[in-house]
Amino acid sequence: MAGVPKRTPAILFFGMRIMKIAVLPGDGIGKEIVAEALKVLRALDLRLEMQEAPVGGTAYEACGEPLPGATLELAKAADAILFGAVGDPRFDAIPRDKRPEQAILGLRKELGLFANLRPAVVYAELADASSLRPEVVAGLDILILRELTGDIYFGKPRGIRKLESGEREGFDTMRYSESEVRRIAQVAFAAARKRGRKVCSVDKANVLDTSQLWREVVTQVGGEYPDVELSHMYVDNAAMQLVRNPKQFDVIVTGNMFGDILSDEASMLTGSIGMLPSASMDERGKGLYEPIHGSAPDIAGKGVANPLATILSAAMMLRYSLEQAAAADRIEAAVKKVLVQGLRTPDIFQAGTRKVGTREMGDAVLAAL
Ligand code: IPM
Ligand code: MG
Repeated sequence: MAGVPKRTPAILFFGMRIMKIAVLPGDGIGKEIVAEALKVLRALDLRLEMQEAPVGGTAYEACGEPLPGATLELAKAADAILFGAVGDPRFDAIPRDKRPEQAILGLRKELGLFANLRPAVVYAELADASSLRPEVVAGLDILILRELTGDIYFGKPRGIRKLESGEREGFDTMRYSESEVRRIAQVAFAAARKRGRKVCSVDKANVLDTSQLWREVVTQVGGEYPDVELSHMYVDNAAMQLVRNPKQFDVIVTGNMFGDILSDEASMLTGSIGMLPSASMDERGKGLYEPIHGSAPDIAGKGVANPLATILSAAMMLRYSLEQAAAADRIEAAVKKVLVQGLRTPDIFQAGTRKVGTREMGDAVLAAL
């Protein structure tokens, strides 16, 4: 990945690399969509060793932990991780440290996956599927770079405490160290160099001290990249600009919490959250790859979920962690082709196209390879 030092991704076996992939399908539609991505990966002529493990609510049910030790070890030992989704309303009431979401938060933290790349690209065929006018989104290609291991997500102290008055108070801590900001900023500028050479850093520096430091450090790092244009924007304005004129952006770099919110917003510019892949990378280029959508329990098991975000996540995995750019290109071209052919899962269906289910969509990508 841009800005992240290269590592040797895998061992050699008779001159051919065996790439170890930890496959963590998780909950809800996770299993269905990951199955389609695996189908596509297996069809490529690559030496991939794929090993599956439970995560999220599925793991909690099986062994009482959303992120079992064995799953974490498998993820640590792998060259890359393909992740489905976690979340299950049946576990909404259990203590937070056992909830399915803790699995993905734990993986990010334990593996040091600090750089979250969330590209929002509008395919020409889907410009009409956006809730915004086609001319506002057609040709859109932005990269949201979200810091993923810091901020209010992990800051301490946090908790719910009793005040003297007797009522309870909830509290969390937003925090960023200079080095945390510096390394995500470096990834942002390096990525912008390979794209449109613009970085917009999003913060809330008019109110928050954390953001003031963030802005200072990003500006410092920007000095090392005179060929990249740097701008700053408050998060409320950024939320508005994203729907007013999204094409003004190239790379948006922001903290964990703001990035969570803005990336969901940006996904809808593309027509469906079911289309967007993501990569979460450590300092050496190892990554976890997942669709940005969740486990969608309402449609789980119905065979209607869109597998394209996961298939595109597998392509990102080949490109960024496994140095298989040609294979990634093939997958991305195949996805484009099925869209041109008019195949649509219900989330991106429009009159004049052909509605297909999860498996049929995966098969079509396979055929288009
Ligand atoms: C995401 C999700 C997660 C997050 C949840 C599942 C903890 O919303 O990946 O954006 O908040 O980071
Ligand atoms: Mg989110």
